[in-house]
Amino acid sequence: MQHPHPYLTTRSHGFLPSPVRDVWEASMQPGVISLAGGNPDLSLAPLDWLADASSRLIRDRGHEVLQYSSGTGTTELRESIVELMAAEHIHADVAGIQVTAGSQMALDVVTKLLCEQGDTILVEDPTYVGALGIFGGAGLRVEHVPMDADGLVPEALRERIRHLAAQGRRPRMLYTIPNFQNPRGVTLAESRRPEIVEICRAAGIPIVEDNPYGMLAFEPRQLTSLHELDPENVVYLGSFSKVLAPGLRVGWATAPEWMRRPLQLASESTVICASPLSQALAADYIAHHDFRSIISRATAVYAKRAAALIGALEGRLPEGSTLTHPQGGFFSWVTLPEGWTTAELLDAAIYEKVVFVPGASFCAPGEGQRELRLAFSFESPDRLTEGARRLGLAFERTAASIAA
Ligand SMILES: Cc1ncc(COP(=O)(O)O)c(C=O)c1O
Repeated sequence: MQHPHPYLTTRSHGFLPSPVRDVWEASMQPGVISLAGGNPDLSLAPLDWLADASSRLIRDRGHEVLQYSSGTGTTELRESIVELMAAEHIHADVAGIQVTAGSQMALDVVTKLLCEQGDTILVEDPTYVGALGIFGGAGLRVEHVPMDADGLVPEALRERIRHLAAQGRRPRMLYTIPNFQNPRGVTLAESRRPEIVEICRAAGIPIVEDNPYGMLAFEPRQLTSLHELDPENVVYLGSFSKVLAPGLRVGWATAPEWMRRPLQLASESTVICASPLSQALAADYIAHHDFRSIISRATAVYAKRAAALIGALEGRLPEGSTLTHPQGGFFSWVTLPEGWTTAELLDAAIYEKVVFVPGASFCAPGEGQRELRLAFSFESPDRLTEGARRLGLAFERTAASIAA
């Protein structure tokens, strides 16, 4: 391993490489089917409209959309976000919305506001690897709390908080992705939501609710936002990345009253303002389209893809494996039987020209060795079916080497 440069801080070693980038080269090889990246399919995005609107906006409002702009975000976009959230049954007011350069930036800024270096935080096991990168770079001690098919387990959360308290450690936040979780694809049960909120409130732990996939439910359903249950203790993070285009880099945070001013100042210090052109494109798009029905068309496509991948995997997984059946979002999560390692499986998969992300990157150190994340968002149903067939060959190849 290369020796770190003496000028670099201890914190600089905490940033983690992206496991998707780790398999990037393999996934770029001709003929390879990638189940790795959680990318939305941009053929579902209004690219022609965005092209025309970009040139119209620059021509007609160039002095505004290419100039520095408000640090909190433009009023027109914040009003659109309030409406979008209202359709999800979440009440927010324009003054409470902080627009950011993607929800990744929102999480980074919120982490800076809530945590000092060396603090402990709670996350799901497994959790979004990009969040772990932020937490690693902030020098935090990350405690992974178990999940099951109904999401985060309240009793495990309670127990972990108790256990940490016995060591004199109070977690500074709970980071959770309640809906169609990345990487596991599960959704927090409605019955658990008030309980999770209550546990954290009682323990004095603010919640960061990250919800980039909530609008992508395969069937219409009520998903109660944790922020709606306790607006003074929950910061909500939203994003246009999965429902419009990630390259616009537009997300937002809806913060409790006490966090609004520091959040605005910290966001301004980080990026001055999120791209005004991107904000204008998002706001204009929402104003001139039936955004909800466009999202439901995209969701129908993702639902077919999930069904294609999961259907084709049934009967191909090694005996004793489990697979999550997501009701929305982009991902499914496989747990292989004892004795398997996904590192070995990945070599066999690359040989068969299919790639996935090994589970270890999403888990506590040493955990997740026999788990893998499969993304169904990007490839067509035919390619997903073929990808599952190739994974089946990789399972056979790995089983033979385990038996040898
Ligand atoms: C759970 C989760 N949060 C945040 C992000 C980052 O989103 P954005 O593009 O809005 O920064 C992602 C992207 O994959 C994600 O899966």
